[in-house]
Amino acid sequence: MQLGASQLRALLDANERGLALLDEVGVVRYANAAFARLAGRVGAQADALVGEDFAGLFPGLGDEIDWVKAASNAIHHGREVRLVRLPTTGGIHVDCRLEPIDLGTMPVALVSLEDVSERVRVEEGMLRRERTDAIANFGESVAHEIRNPLNSIHMNVQLLREALNREGADRESLDRTAGTVQREIMRLDRVVRDFVQYSRPPALDLQPGSINHVVRAALDVLDAQIREKGLQIETVLASARPVRMDRDRMQRAIYNVLLNAVQVLPEGGSLSCRSSDERDMCQLEFSDNGPGLEPDTSAHVFELFYTTKKGGTGLGLPLANRIVEEHGGRMAVASEPGQGTTFAMFLPFGGPPPGRGAGPVTVPVGGKG
Ligand SMILES: Nc1ncnc2c1ncn2[C@@H]1O[C@H](COP(=O)(O)OP(=O)(O)OP(=O)(O)O)[C@@H](O)[C@H]1O
Ligand SMILES: [Mg+2]
Repeated sequence: MQLGASQLRALLDANERGLALLDEVGVVRYANAAFARLAGRVGAQADALVGEDFAGLFPGLGDEIDWVKAASNAIHHGREVRLVRLPTTGGIHVDCRLEPIDLGTMPVALVSLEDVSERVRVEEGMLRRERTDAIANFGESVAHEIRNPLNSIHMNVQLLREALNREGADRESLDRTAGTVQREIMRLDRVVRDFVQYSRPPALDLQPGSINHVVRAALDVLDAQIREKGLQIETVLASARPVRMDRDRMQRAIYNVLLNAVQVLPEGGSLSCRSSDERDMCQLEFSDNGPGLEPDTSAHVFELFYTTKKGGTGLGLPLANRIVEEHGGRMAVASEPGQGTTFAMFLPFGGPPPGRGAGPVTVPVGGKG
């Protein structure tokens, strides 16, 4: 079946994602109905979108992104940008993706916007423990995360006991079994710690400080793993303005991002850490030359329990993202398959706006077990 232009248009208009094509200077060349709705345009106004700047249509959307550059990068270098949970001026939140697309006509990039307001609302509800059923599900997932290592520990201890009762047990294999138990215990410890921090973050202890020191401290913790793999680390830490932050928590966020890179990189891989002062934000960029994200996974990397790793818990990035958001900032990820992955953090120098993050987090219902 061949579709004509008007049928194609109807098909695209039926899509609930906002879709638009941008040319290399970030001007909208086509927009579907959902895109117009997200931009607050209805009726005849919707058609008038064509020819307008994408950035102008969504003022404040990913302020730190130069959309003209991003569109041109997508078109000429195949680079994809993905931002999650961006607040728009219309009071909704969107996941935004800008990617290359080959239509065989003029060079354009595809922007897709997904309304995730409901998801954001549910998550916020969860945070305030308003949604006890959601919390129960959440608890179930955590129980699942804990049960796996527990089972493994149980089995391995059983093996150890059997070996102890056997004459001439092989010491080497006993040692390996004990090593597995130890690793699983460490993993449990990390799951519990990350989970507690995620679900009940302590009040931030905000002090002005150098973000570069925090990046270096996070790198130091990973030093042994970096050496073992012979990774090349490049640091261009050029941020000079102090950032108001909770140092320990920020270090945790950065560590989680760096740890992923260290884990994913092959021997001799490279990792670069950059900091710079942009207009009102300090910008951090961590780029690795690892395998990159699978094309459809980048939307999920900040979701709780999303993992592609054997033994991963999928808490690392959600926690990092949470910490950055507590500081009034935002994270973004960009990836080119086979080329590597870049995680960026944008942190306002002044820390979170008043009334956010810095105050105690009220937890009205004390959860039992
Ligand atoms: N630098 C990276 N390169 C490629 N994929 C990455 C990178 N960082 C994260 N990912 C992907 O994102 C997923 C989620 O990362 P996250 O840190 O949240 O969880 P995890 O590393 O799998 O588990 P955990 O951190 O809890 O041990 C990873 O499983 C991996 O698929
Ligand atoms: Mg991780």
